[in-house]
Amino acid sequence: MGDLHGYFFLFLIWLISTIFIRAIFKSTSSKPHLPPSPFALPIIGHLHLLAPIPHQAFHKLSLRYGPVFRLFLGSVPCAVACSPETAKEFLKTYEHAYLDRPHNSALAYLTYGSQSFAFAPYGSYWKFMKKIIMSQLLNGTTLDLLLPVRQDELNRFMNTLFQKAKIGKAVDLNGELLKMSNNVISRMLMSERCSENEDEAGEMRKLVTEITEIAGKFNLSDYIWILKNLDLQGFGKRLKDIRRRFDELIDGIIKDHEESRKQGSGKVRDLLNILLDVAEDETMEIKLTREHIKAFILDIFVAGTQSSAITLEWALAELINHPNIMEKAIEEIDQVIGKKRLLQESDIPNLPYLQAIVKETLRLHATGPVILRQSTEDCTVAGYHIPANTTVFINVWALGRDPNHWENPLEFRPERFEQNNVDVRGQHFHIIPFGSGRRICPGTSLSLQMIQTTLGSMIQCFDWKAGEDGNLTSVDMEEGPGITLPRANPLVCIPVARIDPISL
Ligand code: HEM
Repeated sequence: MGDLHGYFFLFLIWLISTIFIRAIFKSTSSKPHLPPSPFALPIIGHLHLLAPIPHQAFHKLSLRYGPVFRLFLGSVPCAVACSPETAKEFLKTYEHAYLDRPHNSALAYLTYGSQSFAFAPYGSYWKFMKKIIMSQLLNGTTLDLLLPVRQDELNRFMNTLFQKAKIGKAVDLNGELLKMSNNVISRMLMSERCSENEDEAGEMRKLVTEITEIAGKFNLSDYIWILKNLDLQGFGKRLKDIRRRFDELIDGIIKDHEESRKQGSGKVRDLLNILLDVAEDETMEIKLTREHIKAFILDIFVAGTQSSAITLEWALAELINHPNIMEKAIEEIDQVIGKKRLLQESDIPNLPYLQAIVKETLRLHATGPVILRQSTEDCTVAGYHIPANTTVFINVWALGRDPNHWENPLEFRPERFEQNNVDVRGQHFHIIPFGSGRRICPGTSLSLQMIQTTLGSMIQCFDWKAGEDGNLTSVDMEEGPGITLPRANPLVCIPVARIDPISL
């Protein structure tokens, strides 16, 4: 019996030590479990797979490789998330590791050597600016104070449409909407109408378009190390030209502001004056430089103008293609507001169907189709090892079309938002057009107010006939290339007045 105990004891020691040694051996020798990845070409890696439109290419790859996969863009390691569950892991569960954005040499140059807020690493400068933005620049009080600016620009835009309606002329909606949103942002930022001087207006719109285009292109020298010091795509010359033109325009405006402040005449409440106050305040923990201010103005122009204009263009295109939805929206507006006054921002809470139309537009046509982040530490996401210094792409466009979360996802059906509390402010990961977490878009409230009010006014006052001659019964919904999800073909329509503006 004693022998039996001895043997049993020896057997136990052998078993435990074998398991222990194997565990140690396994932990030191096993490779990390990386996400699946397509076959990569030498030097360029997977760059060739992203054409012509990256978010669509990511979506197609995810059908084959799953909701998280790995790519090498040249020599840069990347991970792509294409499902709400994996997006939530990156943006919420492991948020602390994904708060930076990847480096982009075009943006670094345009923003005076990476002085931008939108691309700043998550550190003291970003935290300082975020506090100023949320407490002074884009908070409820400042947005309320600047309401007359938005209302005035909307009235001017509606007036342009009434003039076109009078003579039955077609309107290039992207052009007109971009003019309006440029003017709103420009007046809120610096009390300047971009359209007061048509030369300056055209120049600013052109600059924003050129910047979004060049920032959205894959600059090979960012990704392929042997091309690091070469400029095969001619980016350098174009960037120098863009920054010189932007600098001249903005420098003039800042000097005017400084002059009026010296003379004691110019304390208009605009965002530039708030920034100049902060820059002059010796007690602030960070000294704002002129470059910080210029880079911030560039951030807001680039982030805030095209995105709202393009969202409105998609929304109207969807309504033209769905006359029943257009009719229901008009009925709601007529019932709540009537035909004797124009819709205003304060009416929005009473127009749930209009709000649902805007949500549905942002679900299918998020104008920030891909969120860019950069990891600062190793993490395990969806069971896969994601090393530090990986560029992460969250495919917002694919989340809004995920059949596991949306019934008939490709159908435009605002009713899907009627019976639930799903919102677009970063809590529901199957619809995050403004991102999520600490780096969520700080312009969310402003852009929702602008988009809902403008769309509501456009359909309250006009019927829309599509096409240059107003004879199209539907419009195409093809996407063009670019970081802000532009339409491949601009939306051109003839407005037909439903309301006589003189009687209002
Ligand atoms: C339809 C309109 C808009 C859409 C769809 C949109 C979308 C986005 C998205 C997806 C992000 C990245 C969020 C993340 O990483 O989680 C972002 C960031 C940002 N947006 Fe917007 N945006 C819009 C309008 C605006 C407006 C009107 C402004 C300013 C007035 C603005 C300013 C910014 C800034 C400064 C950032 C960078 C935030 C940071 O890095 O901390 N956006 N936006």
